[in-house]
Amino acid sequence: MPAVIVVGTQWGDEGKGKATDHLGVDVDLVVKFNGGNNAGHTVVIDGEKYALHLLPAGILSDGVTPIIGNGVVIDPEVLFQEIEELEDRGRDTSRLKISANAHIIPSYNRLIDRTTEKFLGKRQIGTTGRGIGPTYADKMNRIGIRVQDLFDESILRQKVEGALVNKNHLLVKVFNKRKVDIDEVTAELLSYADRIQPMVVDSSQLVNDALDEGKTVLFEAGQATMLDIDHGTYPFVTSSNATAGGACTGAGVGPTRIDAVVGVTKAYTTRVGEGPFPTELFDAEGEELRERGGEFGVTTGRPRRCGWFDAVVARYATRVNGLTDLVVTKLDVLTGYEQIPVCVAYDVEGERFDDMPVSQSAFHHAEPIYEYLPGWSEDISKVRTFEELPVNAQRYIEFLEEIARVRVSVIGVGAGREAAIVRHQFV
Ligand code: GDP
Ligand code: IMO
Ligand code: MG
Repeated sequence: MPAVIVVGTQWGDEGKGKATDHLGVDVDLVVKFNGGNNAGHTVVIDGEKYALHLLPAGILSDGVTPIIGNGVVIDPEVLFQEIEELEDRGRDTSRLKISANAHIIPSYNRLIDRTTEKFLGKRQIGTTGRGIGPTYADKMNRIGIRVQDLFDESILRQKVEGALVNKNHLLVKVFNKRKVDIDEVTAELLSYADRIQPMVVDSSQLVNDALDEGKTVLFEAGQATMLDIDHGTYPFVTSSNATAGGACTGAGVGPTRIDAVVGVTKAYTTRVGEGPFPTELFDAEGEELRERGGEFGVTTGRPRRCGWFDAVVARYATRVNGLTDLVVTKLDVLTGYEQIPVCVAYDVEGERFDDMPVSQSAFHHAEPIYEYLPGWSEDISKVRTFEELPVNAQRYIEFLEEIARVRVSVIGVGAGREAAIVRHQFV
């Protein structure tokens, strides 16, 4: 399978980093196509933990060419810092390539992100404060700064000036902040140019050429389906397309080139930040799941909200992404429960919904309708084949497969690169 997209099917942190790294062994290129350093992807190799934010998880696999696609937004400070951290730990980052069309997160957008959140008060999104929303907004408003702009001082200055016309009014008159100085920002952005330039490519050409040569390309999503700007729980979403379609626009490949779309889901559900979450557990049960799963954000350290598996969300993700395969992670975390609730439909004020309600307010009022599956108590962390799993764990997976309407190809039973059961190969 030469072109495979990996997406999150829930609200992020499903284990995309691990899934990508796991597949990375067999691929040639890994392209990150959306988001920026709002992501936090954990990869554990030989007991060593890596937390990646901006760099594609493929960077940890020898021989892979990691690419930051045009759909990504880049904070140059974070880029250099992550490269240095990996190099210090003996990882080779020299093959990293960056699209000339990717947008830069200027420092003023971090300020605007955080200040906007404060002004929203109770209505805040709970963003990561990394400047993601304002930078995508600039892109759409056509006042963004792209990687290629760093190499032409006069163009860069004009663009910074253009971007700041409205922003300085906002900062000074509304937010009561200091005006941003055009010269300072231009100088700061120019200071990144020499270091970035050797990595800059036409990533669309690179990826398409690789596919023509029969190479294998993995498209790695940040965030997830329910955080997608179009298909997620708007407005409690991120500002990019984290669903499969985003891989085509965010990397510059046509949909006809894609061979497989792999969704990653936890065996239960988590969410960071604000917004609706029908299966959320508020009591000691939620606390227990958080402790068992170690559910604390990689990017902001915030405790993740925890709840049971939501099959309505899973089916929705299968539909909007056209999933061909599912990777179910963290099955090991469910070991020891006598029975495991799975949300199979919603009750919205007396009406049953088997599929995602069209109206967001109905979703806000959705009460989960649960089916209860029998649990297992055996340690499964060393299991490497489906048949070796306890029968009830097999049944749990088969139930998810049926209700999510997509085959489960990989099952995660631990954080390590090797801790996975592969049922179907898709690379
Ligand atoms: P991502 O943002 O989708 O890449 O996911 P994160 O890295 O933010 O969160 C997933 C967490 O689960 C990380 O701490 C991983 O190390 C961990 N993890 C991934 N797969 C498994 C698994 O199968 N079992 C266990 N116990 N942990 C896992
Ligand atoms: P990975 O790739 C979980 C959430 C934030 C917030 C909302 C908007 O690790 O799965 P933003 O800073 O993007 O404008 O914040 O989206 N969010 C994530 N939640 N995992 C992520 O990435 C996330 N990236 C953004 O918490 O609710
Ligand atoms: Mg994460």
